[in-house]
Amino acid sequence: MAAMTGIRNIMILTGAGISAESGIDTFRDAGGLWEQHRVEDVATPEAFARDPELVLRFYDMRRAAIQTKAPNAAHHALARLDEHWPGDLLIVTQNVDDLHERAGASRVLHMHGQHLNAWCTACDERSRWTDTLLDRPPCPACGEAALRPDVVWFGEMPYRMDEIYAALREADLFVSIGTSGAVYPAAGLVREARELGARTLELNLERSQGSLWFEETRLGPATELVPAWVDEVMKK
Ligand code: APR
Repeated sequence: MAAMTGIRNIMILTGAGISAESGIDTFRDAGGLWEQHRVEDVATPEAFARDPELVLRFYDMRRAAIQTKAPNAAHHALARLDEHWPGDLLIVTQNVDDLHERAGASRVLHMHGQHLNAWCTACDERSRWTDTLLDRPPCPACGEAALRPDVVWFGEMPYRMDEIYAALREADLFVSIGTSGAVYPAAGLVREARELGARTLELNLERSQGSLWFEETRLGPATELVPAWVDEVMKK
């Protein structure tokens, strides 16, 4: 990207592609999660009402799986940028894994929730959760057996959208990493960033559905593109 001059505030949107090289399935790539499972069966409030066991088993499997994975070079590069970037920086992730945080990043916002949280539908408390939910354990806060995965399902509103839009209004640069641009409102952020006058950069394995909105698109694996981009930014 030509000049980074004048770039003080950065928003970074990440998707499943940044965790792919850590061995976590993406959703829409060949062999991805939505080829293995029907969204309607495991990722909607209706599915949970209809067959809670199927849904809880699916997320128990995912929750266990991510705890066996490790952050990769892309996560570590963003953590390095987060540590040293003097301006505002916000990593808005669609991912429900904790690899950004395990790599050391702190300015992270999970807009689709987190696998390692359980959400009580009785008292609305969220509790750190690394175990299973299928056996309907009591909520640590209220004791009710009303815990569900703290993941935003299709048809539900993503979290903290006000904070995301407030940060977007201040952003001089919007960078998107490892997302197909298939799911809104995340997929609409680049257009809003453009309209707000921010520079826009996409780092992805292949062109996404929103590529036309990006000033620049770099294609390749995140573990190569992201460290190279962070080196570039840090040198400026
Ligand atoms: N490096 C960079 N990009 C990659 C890599 C990689 N190693 N592997 C895959 N990608 C790219 C793919 O080309 C694709 O564009 O990552 C993207 C993954 O797209 P999706 O599977 O659609 O995942 P994502 O965009 O995060 O999905 C958005 O949809 O299913 C819901 O809530 C879920 O947060 C998720 C949302």
